[in-house]
Amino acid sequence: MSKLTRSVWAEVNLQDIAFNTQQFCRLIGRSQLMAVVKANAYGHGSLEIAHTVLANGASWLAVAIPEEGVRLRRAGIAAPILVLGAVGPEEVEICVAKDLAVTLYEPQIARILANVSRKLQKTAKVHIKVDTGMTRLGIPDGAAVEFIRNVTRLPGLEVQGVFTHFADAENPNQEYLQWQWQRFERVINALKREGIKIPCYHAANTAAAMFFPQSHLDMVRVGLGLYGMYPNGRRSIPLRPALSLKTRIAALKHVPAGTAVSYGCTYVTWRETSLAVLPIGYADGLSRKLSNKGHVLIAGQPCPIVGKVTMDHTIVDVGDLPVSVGDEVVLIGTSGHEQVTAQDWAGWMDTINYEVTCLISSRVERIYV
Ligand SMILES: Cc1ncc(COP(=O)(O)O)c(C=O)c1O
Repeated sequence: MSKLTRSVWAEVNLQDIAFNTQQFCRLIGRSQLMAVVKANAYGHGSLEIAHTVLANGASWLAVAIPEEGVRLRRAGIAAPILVLGAVGPEEVEICVAKDLAVTLYEPQIARILANVSRKLQKTAKVHIKVDTGMTRLGIPDGAAVEFIRNVTRLPGLEVQGVFTHFADAENPNQEYLQWQWQRFERVINALKREGIKIPCYHAANTAAAMFFPQSHLDMVRVGLGLYGMYPNGRRSIPLRPALSLKTRIAALKHVPAGTAVSYGCTYVTWRETSLAVLPIGYADGLSRKLSNKGHVLIAGQPCPIVGKVTMDHTIVDVGDLPVSVGDEVVLIGTSGHEQVTAQDWAGWMDTINYEVTCLISSRVERIYV
């Protein structure tokens, strides 16, 4: 473990990441695993995660923006990388130069890719995205076959894959998922009928990989599950949450009943109690939405967050727990028999677990255990 410079840290257990990766490899059998490590691997640290997933069965990586891919290349990662997000005209050249596959759905970008390929004397790799109902990026499914046919004829471009993305795969009602899937299947079948050979078809994210196995195709793109989180809390295979968020008590104060706490005085103690001040706030990713909501764990005991979360500090009510300044506090993770998960935070914050770990800011040191 490296030496900490601050008493707020996120512990990422790489054995848990390895375990989760192996679970998905087992689940998907002969399909390939693309590990989605965008947004600093959902807050877990992209380099360390990339090395771990590649050593445990993943064969592809996915990022959101070229810069994330360039960072991986600079660190010596040679595995194939797909940029899932929109690549603008000014970003095409760096993608080709660094061998980052581009998500393609736009004739204009296809032409720029062909020009850049000629200029750099390098093949431009692309995965064509088909919009089957997410209504975000992608060529509409009705126009997909013609677009793909045209792209395969462009010099300098290599179509490595064709893919789509599901909008509602975590919903136990699979009606919309089935509808999108049928539209994608129609595109696949039309391409096959025309004899257009695509090396890799992919569609599934974590939820579809778990609950809709017919969508595994040649590859699945898994993010959330690799980090040990479940889509919408729905469980299937066993996964281990890899990230814990911890701090230490910075100050303690014994206060009488009727004491107002933090900005806006939104909490007033209803009894004589002890309050612990934690040196973590919304600038670290402890959302202000947790004000007067949720709890942390100290020595295995839940202690409620009281008053407004501030930029750098948060206050919890420790009652008559025998605690001292410097004691460890678990914000996400396990303490004694108690556990607080990113899913719990998501419930308190009225969001999803994805956002909870992505919010943990660069101010919080990541420690790999
Ligand atoms: C296009 C695409 N594929 C796959 C994923 C991975 O999804 P999940 O984290 O649910 O596995 C994402 C994540 O947002 C995505 O945008």
